[in-house]
Amino acid sequence: MAHSPISILSQVDFNGQPLTDELLMKTFQQLIDEHGYVLMCNVLDEFDPVKFCRRLGRFVPNYTGAVVGDVRPEPGMDDVYHAGNTRPLTPHTEGYDFAVLPPRYIALWCVTPASGPGGETTLADTRPWVAALTAEERERLESAEYDWKTTEGVQRLGLDLKTRHPILEENEQGLIVRFSCNNLLRDDDDPVVDLQHRWETAFGDEHMAIEYRENDMLVWDNWRLLHARNAFSDRSRHLRRIQIAA
Ligand SMILES: [Fe+2]
Repeated sequence: MAHSPISILSQVDFNGQPLTDELLMKTFQQLIDEHGYVLMCNVLDEFDPVKFCRRLGRFVPNYTGAVVGDVRPEPGMDDVYHAGNTRPLTPHTEGYDFAVLPPRYIALWCVTPASGPGGETTLADTRPWVAALTAEERERLESAEYDWKTTEGVQRLGLDLKTRHPILEENEQGLIVRFSCNNLLRDDDDPVVDLQHRWETAFGDEHMAIEYRENDMLVWDNWRLLHARNAFSDRSRHLRRIQIAA
């Protein structure tokens, strides 16, 4: 069952006038600290999403090297697990295939919404799930390192990334969660299989579904939330994407 997002920030006030940069950022910070994500709505055409994101941190290039990436169906990519097609994506965090720390924030904004059903970005907060772990399981998830591979789609771009990280990593700026349903390499009898099933089920039960209108911008804490995508049919759906370091 999908829930509606509650952490929503209007770029304009009740009079239809843009919030000042200062107030917009202050409310954004309050909302993202509490909920781990913000959906910015009522966004005027004049709003500059790149300028806004620059205030959150240093940009991390996308796989192609493009700093501002495009998320839209790409030719010849319909048969693989990849953001650049119309198929669903399973719950994951971004950047488990990076040797360096995963990006802290992901920003997606909508150039062209999908008409018809589907195409929602879905999100769920791992914080209560991590809090519910036994001390023993938490200790194991922090100490056991796993091999991760990159997605089939990214491999087809010519990048064969292989990394080794634990699921949970304490960092001075907070806990880092890494998660994938399909790109975490493990044996079928590994105890992490149970966690993958539990978290995929919890995601199915608890996720929020973000339906984009034109110019809407979604930003989330990628160390804390899992994200996924519902399938869609409108091939004109087009988002832009920035990854931001801690
Ligand atoms: Fe993703």
